[in-house]
Amino acid sequence: MSFELDAWRGENVLVNRDLRTGAWSMIALHSTRLGPAVGGTRMKSYATADDALADCMRLAEGMTYKTAVAGLPAGGGKAVLAVPPGLSADARARLLLDHGRRVADLGGRFVTGPDMGTGETDMDLLGTVTGHVFCRSLANGGAGTASPWTAAGVLAAIEATIQYEIGSRRLDGMTVLVQGIGEVGARLARLLSTRGARLLLSDIDQRAVDRLISELPGATALDPGRVYATECDVYSPCAVGATLSQATIPQLRCRMVVGAANNQLAGADDAERLRRQGIRYAPDFVANAGGIIRAVGSETLHWSDDEIDARIAAIGTTLLDIYERSDASGASTAAAALRIAEERLGADAVAA
Ligand code: PHE
Repeated sequence: MSFELDAWRGENVLVNRDLRTGAWSMIALHSTRLGPAVGGTRMKSYATADDALADCMRLAEGMTYKTAVAGLPAGGGKAVLAVPPGLSADARARLLLDHGRRVADLGGRFVTGPDMGTGETDMDLLGTVTGHVFCRSLANGGAGTASPWTAAGVLAAIEATIQYEIGSRRLDGMTVLVQGIGEVGARLARLLSTRGARLLLSDIDQRAVDRLISELPGATALDPGRVYATECDVYSPCAVGATLSQATIPQLRCRMVVGAANNQLAGADDAERLRRQGIRYAPDFVANAGGIIRAVGSETLHWSDDEIDARIAAIGTTLLDIYERSDASGASTAAAALRIAEERLGADAVAA
């Protein structure tokens, strides 16, 4: 993965190495312009530390755009714990605590939460050393997992996108391909199923797919190798990023791309590539904002449940605005969404 440090318009990056395990622990603060940087702590194994750093910085940038477009008084950051495979439970806990102390040292400039590879119990552990953590368990004074709200936001995004493309929000008879059925993808699949969508479910963990399929009527399994070339109405990337690339986009046989994964575009040209191919792309940082809306809304701003639901439904309205701007200007939907971020942040904070 190549990454140009110069092109990153963020504020700072903290990199620590744990010499005992070889793990790297990184915190990138992309922007604190609109408020404290918020973003999850991702735990994952990477091929190289450079890959981990690039991921951390890009994800932090995505959080800046996500909070800005969602209208939250918060900025964007992210943490990555790049761990060696097969890390022991003890070493994992120690790394998390060290990370939590660094979050504490930042004194509230960064507030973290769960992301890929971390969950509620990890947030409880971080919570023993810092108060700057979202989504601790209810028993520990947190608001619990935000995943149901992320999934609800993606559903609102799918409904808005099919309304724009087809003229109806109804999901019955629509085929949705969900790639990645983890915390958010599985919840999204359940929501789609109750609305009568036909589901194609794919995950590298075949047993997880089989389990979900036995529970959901109208769902069938799809081999992970066949995701891109399979015909569907909506392709919903809900796992790793960079699945939309020069290599995959020409294969796509969908009409819309709306999913929960962060950083779905492999490169800066890919949004335009999708547009030229006649595929409507819901910018990831708009469609997947439900979790952070819920976390900041309930834990920082003390919004009511109704207010949070209204803000999550507004993801759909925002997307309709983005689609109209894109069609009016001929710019990609990602470019149109970045313009909204820019209106709130100032041009210097947004990558060209
Ligand atoms: N991990 C979430 C994302 O990538 C952000 C998040 C952070 C959600 C903290 C809840 C709490 O959007």
